[in-house]
Amino acid sequence: MSAQNLVTQPQEQGNAPQLPADMASRLTDPAVWADEAGLHELLATIRAQYPLAIADVPGFRPFWVVSKYQDIMEISRQNSLFHSGDLSAVLMPEEEYQKLAGGGEDAEKVHRSIVYMDPPEHGRYRMLTQAWFQPGSVRKREEEIRAIAKKTVERMRAAGGTCDFVSDIAVHYPLEVIMNILGIPDEHYSRVLRLTQEVFSVADEELGREGDDTFSLGSDNVFRDFNAFLRPFHEDRKVNPRDDVLSIIANAQIDGQPVPEIEALSYYVTVATAGHDTTSSTSATALWALSRSPELFRELKEDPSRIPALIDEALRWTTPVRHFMRSATEDYELRGQLIRKGDWLMLCYPSGNRDEEIFENPQQFQPDRSPNKHVAFGYGAHVCLGQHLAKLEIRILLEELLANLDAIEPAGPPKYTKAIFVGGLKSLPIRYQTA
Ligand code: HEM
Repeated sequence: MSAQNLVTQPQEQGNAPQLPADMASRLTDPAVWADEAGLHELLATIRAQYPLAIADVPGFRPFWVVSKYQDIMEISRQNSLFHSGDLSAVLMPEEEYQKLAGGGEDAEKVHRSIVYMDPPEHGRYRMLTQAWFQPGSVRKREEEIRAIAKKTVERMRAAGGTCDFVSDIAVHYPLEVIMNILGIPDEHYSRVLRLTQEVFSVADEELGREGDDTFSLGSDNVFRDFNAFLRPFHEDRKVNPRDDVLSIIANAQIDGQPVPEIEALSYYVTVATAGHDTTSSTSATALWALSRSPELFRELKEDPSRIPALIDEALRWTTPVRHFMRSATEDYELRGQLIRKGDWLMLCYPSGNRDEEIFENPQQFQPDRSPNKHVAFGYGAHVCLGQHLAKLEIRILLEELLANLDAIEPAGPPKYTKAIFVGGLKSLPIRYQTA
């Protein structure tokens, strides 16, 4: 991935509060993110004692840890003051970032996603697909998505009463939905699965690409391979447009010109990856909750109108996108601290979603929580483009599962991915009876 703007030097931090070294280094350790209980204990301590402080970890540019819900919102809503593209939008060691940013304007660009764009460019690219992702528009796909969900439930029936809900079920369903909306034929399923996992699960030895030593996202080679895979579809849709997201982007114009190839390919990669592990780990969390409480299972089976509240609580609980980074374009005062122009900030969504000042009993999973204004989809101009699709597809899957299962229970301990950017459950063994 190539950074888009010039590298600036880290600022002198003066009297800004510092996160103790051990806390800061734990926060940047992917293994800590695979230990749910330990992670949330750490985040609760940070919120209570260092709600807005700088993490100075060897190898990393110092960054502010924004742990409070209100601060995450305040920064996210001002995307001219807090940019996504001036420094890395995801946490990575400085050396890795310098390699990406250091190539200058002539460097080969392998990924240029809307996630890393800022105004006014960001708005122009986002507008291309925004209407397609609105609730009314994604609902038109409900029947097709339900057919995929039914097929998924049949797979569970065929498995005969036990499975790993993540690796056997939850990982596959959202990818099949995404391939459907993008317009990529089923025969390419295994290839797309591998590529999306290599993008986000880079620190996980079971899921990342062998030999990749990058920190939070797959290497340039992964993005190059993804682009090479998608290029023929991009070319095809320019001449044979269809009713899919690929066709919209392949034939769109920015300022009267066709979308440049790398931006178009990156858009497809972003949709494919952003909508995959995030949705699967949220579905898995909802199922984890159902498997632990026969009463909840029975109640929701009788009253599926409670499913949307369960999904919101699963989103709050799991918060699959663990952070995005921003950098300040001006000096800014936040929580009595001076954020200096050029400072790098981590929006720590899982912490915001357990903020005691916003959520009552935040460390309890409450399937009917209301209100539940979680920030799992982010906020402001970059707020998740696919949020309505994600909620729709998870609701349909849960409706089909509840209608076709009579009972469900845990069959082993759950496991979480080692990932500091996007993660959640990686294994959820269950036993179940089909109806
Ligand atoms: C449970 C599922 C999902 C979660 C938790 C999630 C979360 C997020 C978050 C936190 C952001 C960044 C928001 C910000 O910076 O304020 C984001 C952006 C984005 N998401 Fe999602 N997402 C999910 C599903 C999806 C799906 C299904 C798609 C598409 C098929 C999608 C496409 C995108 C795109 C394209 C962006 C970039 C938007 C921009 O920069 O303007 N996401 N998502």
